[in-house]
Amino acid sequence: MITERRHDPYGAVHKGIRAAHMRCLVAIGAADAASDAQIARLVAEINEHLAMCGTHLEDENAVLHVALDARRPGATAHAAEDHDDHLASFAELKALLSPLAAAAPGNRAPVLAALYRRFGRFVADDLLHMEHEEHVLLPDLQAAFTDEELRELEGRIVATIPPEHMVLFLDAMLEAMPKADGTAMLDAMRAGMPPAAYAALMQAVEDRRRGRTSMAHAA
Ligand SMILES: [Fe+2]
Ligand SMILES: [Fe+2]
Repeated sequence: MITERRHDPYGAVHKGIRAAHMRCLVAIGAADAASDAQIARLVAEINEHLAMCGTHLEDENAVLHVALDARRPGATAHAAEDHDDHLASFAELKALLSPLAAAAPGNRAPVLAALYRRFGRFVADDLLHMEHEEHVLLPDLQAAFTDEELRELEGRIVATIPPEHMVLFLDAMLEAMPKADGTAMLDAMRAGMPPAAYAALMQAVEDRRRGRTSMAHAA
């Protein structure tokens, strides 16, 4: 049976977030507490990741939740509670990153272990949260809005993402989706952007990937 494929504003970005969650979790677990370079790089990576997750949460609150609640009052209540929990997680994780960055090498291991456990709990919470959004909120969104309206809402979100965060989203999403889907997404982006801005964005994504590869080879 062929069912009509509706627009899904969660699909690509949630794949990217899931992939980046896993990469960060592994990076925390594998970091050498005695290595200044690895710890500095890890703290920067987790801070960037939390910034990306925070942007995603704020965009959902400001655009998707506002729009859905206007047509289905109360539909986003559970997801909004999850978002509040996530904000608490961001604060607790940042409260571990600062002492990790400042600690002498011999004092880092317990902070690193606490970060690993707390980040793992956040990932577990967010995996359930994203499943709720995809399983409960998405059918509500698709029932309340046409695909054209959903694309317009998604476009509003994309338009507000600053370039430095767009690099993080693209880097995460492109490695997490089939190549053909990534190509289609980039083609659509290129069509809506000035050529120089698109080229600069893709160069930043490439630089970020290359930096990660060279770090992995140096380790
Ligand atoms: Fe969310
Ligand atoms: Fe989400």
